[in-house]
Order: sequence, then structure tokens, then C-alpha cells
Amino acid sequence: MTQPAIEIQNLTKTYRDRKTGEQKEALKGVDLTVPRGAFFGLLGPNGAGKSTMINIMAGTVVKSGGTVRINGYDIDRDVRKAKGSIGIVPQELVLDTFFTVRQALEITAGYYGIPKKDRRTDEIIDAMGLRDKADSPSRRLSGGMRRRLLIGKALVHTPPVLVLDEPTAGVDVELRRSLWEYVRKLNKAGTTILLTTHYLEEAEELCDEIAIIHKGNLIARDRTDTLMGGVDSKQVSFTFAAPLDTVPDALQGLQAEVKNGRLLVSYQPSKAQMSDILARVHTAGLQIQDISTEEVELEDLFIKLTSAA
Ligand SMILES: Nc1ncnc2c1ncn2[C@@H]1O[C@H](COP(=O)(O)OP(=O)(O)O)[C@@H](O)[C@H]1O
Ligand SMILES: [Mg+2]
Repeated sequence: MTQPAIEIQNLTKTYRDRKTGEQKEALKGVDLTVPRGAFFGLLGPNGAGKSTMINIMAGTVVKSGGTVRINGYDIDRDVRKAKGSIGIVPQELVLDTFFTVRQALEITAGYYGIPKKDRRTDEIIDAMGLRDKADSPSRRLSGGMRRRLLIGKALVHTPPVLVLDEPTAGVDVELRRSLWEYVRKLNKAGTTILLTTHYLEEAEELCDEIAIIHKGNLIARDRTDTLMGGVDSKQVSFTFAAPLDTVPDALQGLQAEVKNGRLLVSYQPSKAQMSDILARVHTAGLQIQDISTEEVELEDLFIKLTSAA
């Protein structure tokens, strides 16, 4: 029996402000299972609780309740094995800027107890494109390069699970491309990837499964294509010179309906072409008086999902 890469049950977190005593419920009982080998997206607006979840897995935030298992290892009971199974790239660029790239990687390897002969320092330096900067102190690195070093540090112990918390926020397009290429390669080689982002397009492009978190609750979890069916969707509304009462034959096979004499057609912009819909309307010999379109946005999806919950 193989254990899931990540198994989270009823995870809660309440932050307390030491001064004011004010409480903030950041996670309200989250259940999440990430299967082995997945490229998984954790999506949600700012403040949803994504980093809180990630930082609990990393051990930098103490949970209030619930359980977290990494590759079957409980983060409370099997601390070492759990930590050894996961590599985490935090959202904040936290680095000891005094050390060079090489030193930072060596120190991290030492922290994980990896013997010198088994270290992959040079391989990681090359994979992250940091060869030229290997002996520069990290304070001299650009933001993008620091991000790469952080990813490198998360990889020194060859973890079977790699978690990236908003890795492309503030990163230039070129680095974003090469970063994703590398992460994809890791995933193909068997590493489970958990990625958090508030960019819908990014999650859609990369992830095969997505969970959506909103105000500390997990409100959706599905295969990306299924979930995006609700987002990658537009509706076009036609008003014709003469009101309709049935969907014309030429538009059969599309998601079309007649409402108040108008024709409403739902379609997926990634698949269907507006020109095809217009051609069919033309074939039906209808005289268009007015057209309007509506697009489902990420915010709409959140509202839809939260009101349904
Ligand atoms: N150290 C903290 N102390 C108090 N509140 C916090 C702390 N960290 C995060 N929060 C609050 O918890 C909520 C979730 O934050 P976070 O996990 O960073 O969300 P996300 O990563 O999805 O943007 C937010 O309302 C945030 O203000
Ligand atoms: Mg965050």
C-alpha cells in the first residue's frame, strides 16, 4: 500500500496577537489528500490560508489542531522522517545573505545529515543556473536568483515531495519559464509537486489537480479540467430581429438555450471559437440585433463555490 504524498486532516490554525489578544482563524478544519506523483495546485486569493498550510508542513508555524502526514509520516510523531520527505520553498525570500550560494547549499545538506560524498551541490547549482554565482554571497543575488537558490536549498535532500509557495510572485517571465520547465522535469521523474498560487492561469497550465482554499476553508478540489469547466466558460447572448422560440438546428450540439426570445450559448473559449458560433447563427439565417458576452472570473468562481457551500 502506498501512502499519499500529503495527507491533511481537520487542520486548524488560530493566530493570536500577543499584544491585543485578538484572534484570527486562518485555517478552519482543512482536509486535503495529495496523491503521489501529482502536480497539485493549491489556489486561493491573498489571505486564504495557503502559506499557513505550507508553513505548518515546513514546521515554521505550529498548528492549532489536526494532523499532517508526509509520505505517511506524521509531522508531530515522525518529525525527522516527515521533514526528510519534503522540501519547501517558502513565499518569503528568507536567506542568510552572508553565505555564498555553495555554502548555503552545503550548510543545508549538513542540516539534513547528508554525507559529503552523497551531496549534489554542483548538480543543483547547475540545474538552478547559478554556476556563475556559486561563490557570490547571496546578498549580491537578484530576487530571481535568490528564488532559485531557495529552490535549490529545498532540493538538497532529494525530497519525494516538493512544495512551492507562490514561487513566481515578482519573478520575470524568462525565469518563470525555466523554473516551470525544471519543476515539470522533477515531476516527470516522480517528485510530487504542490504549488500555491493566486494566478488561475498558472495553476491551469501546470497542475493536473487543484484545490481551492477560501477564508480558511477548502471549498473545491477536482481535476483541473473539470474545475476549469466552470471558469473556462463564457456565455454569449444574441438578440435577433425576430424573437426565437426554439434553438435553431444549425446550433444543435452546442450548449444553447432560448430565453425571453433571445439565444444564449455557453462555450469554452479554450475549445470553441466564437467565429464558429457566429457562422452557425448565419447558417440559421438569423438577423442579429445585439450581442453581449459574459465571462466567468476567478472571483466569480469563488463566490459561486462559497455560496454553494
Ligand atoms: N503570523 C501571523 N499572525 C497573525 N495573523 C496571520 C499571521 N500569518 C498570517 N495571518 C493571517 O492569516 C490569514 C491567512 O494568511 P496566509 O496563510 O498568509 O494566506 P495566503 O498565503 O493564502 O495569502 C490572513 O488573514 C493573514 O492575515
Ligand atoms: Mg501566502
